Amino acid sequence: ATVLVCDGITSDGIEPLVRLEGIELIFGKIDDIEDPEMIEGIMVRSATKITESVLERFSGLKIIARAGVGVDNIDLTAATKKGVLVVNAPEGNTISTAEHTWAMMMSLVRNIPQANQSVKIGEWDRKKYTGQELYQKTLGIIGMGRIGSELAKRAKSFSMNVLVFDPYFSLEKQKELSVTSVDLDTLIQQSDIITVHTPLTKDTRKLLNHDNLKNTKKGAYLLNCARGGIIDEEALLHYLNTGHLSGCALDVFEQEPPINRSLIEHPNVIVTPHIAASTIQAQKNVAYMASDEIKSFILNKPLKHA
Ligand code: MLT
Repeated sequence: ATVLVCDGITSDGIEPLVRLEGIELIFGKIDDIEDPEMIEGIMVRSATKITESVLERFSGLKIIARAGVGVDNIDLTAATKKGVLVVNAPEGNTISTAEHTWAMMMSLVRNIPQANQSVKIGEWDRKKYTGQELYQKTLGIIGMGRIGSELAKRAKSFSMNVLVFDPYFSLEKQKELSVTSVDLDTLIQQSDIITVHTPLTKDTRKLLNHDNLKNTKKGAYLLNCARGGIIDEEALLHYLNTGHLSGCALDVFEQEPPINRSLIEHPNVIVTPHIAASTIQAQKNVAYMASDEIKSFILNKPLKHA
């Protein structure tokens, strides 16, 4: 079988496939492949978009493995229609994403990127960059899957109160993590800092929007290190401009690279280029897990995340 590895997926993570007999690995871009009908497996991160027309070109495709969590870059309906299996690697980048979110949160409340920039250009203003403590603040976590749960643990170790909103979150887990489950409106009204950790679906698109962001605490902070579009960017900019929100940290955007310059350039917005999962460890983990799934598929063994 021929497997195409896209998006610069790290070669030291795809060991399970390298050692497999009868496998040919090709590294490259979907657009550059001359005989797409020969490819039976494709491994992608988020940059490659697997659309219906890509699926048509790659007519011999049997499996798409996403080295990462979100499968929003793959047309699942079209893949299902064509009988192409889609698998992901949801566990590999949990810690990296939670750690990046934490780094963004601390940077946000202490104005670290802005203060860093000011010292570099020769300024010395200690008053302007006065921050806030996380201690005893209320953190609202929307989405208590793997990443949200890891974040809750870190928040507890900083003595924060943690409110969570997740319809699928069990009472048992709530007790284990010492967090309080509330409805979305309560979380929005009572949190000092709100962070989202859900996939992007029709239910979560613009989950935070004009109507509910107005109910946030005055001076609240927002973070999105999950998927662009969960927070409505236009509404976010509006409440930053009115001064109602103190600031926000974004690793992901409605469109990537982002085009909304007024949001990016806002002095109280800190940004990174979708790198929450970009660590040596996470990229190796997700590549390993995705290749392991392709290997199981080829060997007719059960799959973990189909
Ligand atoms: C993911 O969904 O796994 C992350 O957004 C990271 C990535 O796009 O690779």
